[in-house]
Amino acid sequence: MQNFSSSIQSHNGFIQAYRKDEDGIRAELSEGLLASPAVTSPKYLYDALGSRLFAAICELPEYYLTRTEAAIFQAHLPEMAEAIGPGRTLIDLGAGNCSKAARLFSALSPQQYVPVDISVEFLRDSVELLRQRFPEIEITGVGLDFSTTLDLPDAVNKRNRLFFYPGSSLGNFMPEDAVEFLRGVHQACAGEGGLLIGVDLVKDKQILDAAYDDALGVTASFNLNLLLHLNRLLGADFNVRDWAHRAFFNENKSRIEMHLEARRSVTVSWSGGKRQFAEGERIHTENSYKYTRESFVRLLERAGFGETKVWTDPRGWFMVCYAKLV
Ligand code: AVI
Repeated sequence: MQNFSSSIQSHNGFIQAYRKDEDGIRAELSEGLLASPAVTSPKYLYDALGSRLFAAICELPEYYLTRTEAAIFQAHLPEMAEAIGPGRTLIDLGAGNCSKAARLFSALSPQQYVPVDISVEFLRDSVELLRQRFPEIEITGVGLDFSTTLDLPDAVNKRNRLFFYPGSSLGNFMPEDAVEFLRGVHQACAGEGGLLIGVDLVKDKQILDAAYDDALGVTASFNLNLLLHLNRLLGADFNVRDWAHRAFFNENKSRIEMHLEARRSVTVSWSGGKRQFAEGERIHTENSYKYTRESFVRLLERAGFGETKVWTDPRGWFMVCYAKLV
């Protein structure tokens, strides 16, 4: 857990509560690349190009998650708003362009909207537009690596918090880390409030495999782009053409696994490290856990949440949960 107060910067309704620790990032990456099997955190998939490629993934016919979640919100928003109630402090984790939360504003009438992302730079333009469209809502952008801390600045109301975590992003945590993260959310609700979260559900392996290995190769580009990012972050000499995208549903572990596989024997060097990868050897780049309704509600309970309301689509492919504190 990091202490943000030492690096806090506030400007015009935006608070940058996180500063990059470049040495720490290099040490973490180097350790992961030297491990057996090699592993990198999925957060390094999102440099500027990676974020654009992820936006393109959300448009793919095979990647049903974004569309299905949007359809659930569209079909059930009045019922959700009734369960949640107006005047909440809406805290949007990984807000990006804020478009998912903005679709809820008319129904939820939040008192304060707090888009949180790793950098407030991502938020600036979208927040300006939102301020014009919704002048009655106080908007406070927060730059924070919320995967390491949910210690929000004092400008964020403590009362009546509703954490919003759409897109099944929790699936990118290992289940034990997911419980820990949810406990942090529960604690940050300070005795009242709740969580509105989107979760991808277990389904046919063929559908899941295709969603993470699409015909156009956009997910392959998203995965391979990690190597270009590592070259910049670490001063490494990965050659993208030496590597292949591998993604598949591991039914035993109920997760999509994404890997980069060496097409031939390659030696990779970076400042402070070097490794030889045999042909077929892999770097594990992402997990995306898929839950059943029951297994996810159990996870919420382990994190301390009480009553949970669930909405799903007609095919039962995705669900949106509203978990109350007690
Ligand atoms: C951001 N996250 C929820 C996506 C997922 O489905 O796990 C990331 C992604 N990886 C490959 N395609 C999409």
